Amino acid sequence: MANPKKAKAERGFMRWVDDRFPATQMWQEHLSEYYAPKNFNFWYFFGSLALLVLVNQILTGVWLTMSFNPSAEGAFASVEYIMRDVEYGWLIRYMHSTGASAFFLVVYLHMFRGLLYGSYKAPRELVWIFGMAIYLALMAEAFMGYLLPWGQMSYWGAQVIISLFSAIPGIGPDLAQWVRGDYLISGITLNRFFALHVVALPIVILALVVLHIIALHEVGSNNPDGIDIKAKKDETGKPLDGIPFHPYYTVKDIVGVAVFLFVFCAVIFYFPEGGGYFLEKPNFEPANPLKTPDHIAPVWYFTPFYAILRAITFSLFGLDAKFLGVIFMGAAIAVLFVLPWLDRSPVRSMRYKGWISKVMLVLFAISFVILGVLGVLPPTGARTLLAQVCTVIYFAFFVLMPIYTRLEKTKPVPERVTG
Ligand code: HEM
Repeated sequence: MANPKKAKAERGFMRWVDDRFPATQMWQEHLSEYYAPKNFNFWYFFGSLALLVLVNQILTGVWLTMSFNPSAEGAFASVEYIMRDVEYGWLIRYMHSTGASAFFLVVYLHMFRGLLYGSYKAPRELVWIFGMAIYLALMAEAFMGYLLPWGQMSYWGAQVIISLFSAIPGIGPDLAQWVRGDYLISGITLNRFFALHVVALPIVILALVVLHIIALHEVGSNNPDGIDIKAKKDETGKPLDGIPFHPYYTVKDIVGVAVFLFVFCAVIFYFPEGGGYFLEKPNFEPANPLKTPDHIAPVWYFTPFYAILRAITFSLFGLDAKFLGVIFMGAAIAVLFVLPWLDRSPVRSMRYKGWISKVMLVLFAISFVILGVLGVLPPTGARTLLAQVCTVIYFAFFVLMPIYTRLEKTKPVPERVTG
């Protein structure tokens, strides 16, 4: 907590504001007197980059909405109009479509940092849970956004995913119809996805990001050593291994932003479709309910979970393969929510965990990437087998965690951060 006496500006305009709104106090609590561990590394760039991409999505989204027509008759043509006739419309659209892929890339790296340094462990469970809620909302946001251009893949991708609801026994078909608002995906579905995509979900995501950061600042940031910097303070009560977030990390984050913008601009200007991975090829054709594309695959950021869905080719306990696949796909995401309670290790950071945790994390990361690749490709016998092996590894990482984190021998954790 900042000293309330100190938290008011001495005089002038800021004094006037502070008497009415805690501006200086908030600045101090969250920036100039928020002590962050001094050993942040590469992995700590992705939180601020996620914020940057979020702002990019909201701004470009507002400008796209100005020229987009959310109807089955007009959507595809309005996107073409944005690309060809609206001044810099192509740039705004590519910033938004490439921004979606950038968002997931940055968020996946941000989440991986959490796994690497045990940032989800006490006392940061709520930081993690709010993060997972953001991730869920982000998946819904991206899924609904992809229907809007009303291309072939928009239509058929949504068709595949919404039909998953109908696999739920009993209520399934009615639920799918309720989601679509029609017997088929139609302009009605497009309208409601538009409303959710541009109004409801952005509000939810923004609110969750605020909660995520409030929760983080309540307990303080973790660090690559996974140790508590508040345990060692100087005579004024400041953590010995902490430095004020502003100016030290605001300046450091600018470096991350500059590198990110180089890469982001290179993609936008030279490979905006990302070889068909950011904007899929069939999406340059208008939606046609009478013509199914040869191969339907979601955008790359969903494919690890799509591959898990397709890996379940058998029925079990009377549940058919499709419904079982949906359960496994849901469980693959749900299990991340309870991660803070699965890890029983006495240490947080991978640096001090035993070899089993390290091997499991590497296997998990490799399986996740392989599942991602398999999810893009049409299934064959061998690919399905590989997806099944990777699905087993994916779940083993979590399900066996309470056992291996308790059994393995950990290394002694230093008292102060190691640089
Ligand atoms: C819109 C998406 C997100 C934004 C804007 C965001 C933003 C941030 C920021 C600014 C920080 C502090 C800086 C840093 O530690 O990198 C942070 C920390 C953190 N975030 Fe996120 N985040 C997002 C999504 C997620 C997701 C999906 C998860 C995990 C499920 C997550 C888990 C965490 C954790 C555990 C920390 C604390 C890390 C530590 O102290 O070591 N975040 N986030």
